[in-house]
Amino acid sequence: MAVIIPNPSLVTPDPVRSQSWKRLPTPRAVLSVRSTSHRANSRLKLANKVAVVTGSTNGIGFSIARRLAQDGVHVVISSRKQQNVDQAVAMLKEEGLSVTGTVCHVGKAEDREQLVATALEHCGGVDFLVCVAGVNPLVGSTLRSSEQTWDKGSEILSVNVKAPALLLSQLLPHMENRGQCAVVLVSSVSAYIPLPKLGAYNVSKTALLGLTKTLAVELAPKNIRVNCIAPGIINTDFAQVMFCMHHLTEDSAFKEYLKYFYGIQRLGQPEDCAGLVSFLCSPEASYITGETIAVAGLSPHL
Ligand SMILES: NC(=O)c1ccc[n+]([C@@H]2O[C@H](COP(=O)([O-])OP(=O)(O)OC[C@H]3O[C@@H](n4cnc5c(N)ncnc54)[C@H](OP(=O)(O)O)[C@@H]3O)[C@@H](O)[C@H]2O)c1
Repeated sequence: MAVIIPNPSLVTPDPVRSQSWKRLPTPRAVLSVRSTSHRANSRLKLANKVAVVTGSTNGIGFSIARRLAQDGVHVVISSRKQQNVDQAVAMLKEEGLSVTGTVCHVGKAEDREQLVATALEHCGGVDFLVCVAGVNPLVGSTLRSSEQTWDKGSEILSVNVKAPALLLSQLLPHMENRGQCAVVLVSSVSAYIPLPKLGAYNVSKTALLGLTKTLAVELAPKNIRVNCIAPGIINTDFAQVMFCMHHLTEDSAFKEYLKYFYGIQRLGQPEDCAGLVSFLCSPEASYITGETIAVAGLSPHL
């Protein structure tokens, strides 16, 4: 069955397939371009901080990287493909933002080492780690998955769960003496409302809730806070898979789906996640750790 994009009025401000939102300077970006002087920059709420954001060349990660940079952070952008890194870095630099980039497939140890080295080389240390990179290579029934399928799907657990923990342990020596450090993991509402046919993905996102609490307990004595966001359906390329799987081929079916699961009748936008991450990194959240916050337009089913 051909997949029809949901009603554009529900997908404000841009159609689902388009990533053109990425190219539009937001009012804050325009402000940032105007205020690139050091004096103006030092008044921003996260001035002189350094963030490493994984999976940050597109979608939610790109939006988080942009927002942190607009708030004064120097951001190290990363993802698997050099071309995507170059494009994202160039786009944000054009907006007058302070960013660096390097390739990092979070499931590869040597890439994680390179990411840490890049952050240290350019910035001398790290204040915030935001782990956005996540994959979903397996679609199908959980119980009908053979052992081989689970083994193939081990990438899910390795990229979505193991990699954030390993990357954090690599960065820890460079975070622990800076004070007020923060880590944000990206789970999903599928941790609470499992999506049919996405068994291993659901499990990986549920594991992140536990990882958040565990790391929060371990790192509280070091004054490093660990929180998590659980996005609902956010308008990115990644969400396309879910539209296909649920056969959301008609406007009416899509509206019914939204009505059933969510209160606010629109898709989330990557920016809806970005502001929350900036808050969780900021001193305003200095007494918040071990929490997972849903960005899902109110779901009574959570
Ligand atoms: N969109 C949603 O509705 C939704 C809802 C809940 C949770 N989430 C979670 O949000 C996160 C981001 O999703 P998104 O919707 O923003 O996806 P997206 O628009 O497809 O962007 C994914 C980004 O991650 C990078 N990436 C993919 N695999 C990677 C890997 N192994 N290592 C490093 N970078 C990698 C991609 O760039 P390269 O191709 O260059 O690597 C890209 O920059 C995921 O963890 C997803 O589970 C999304």
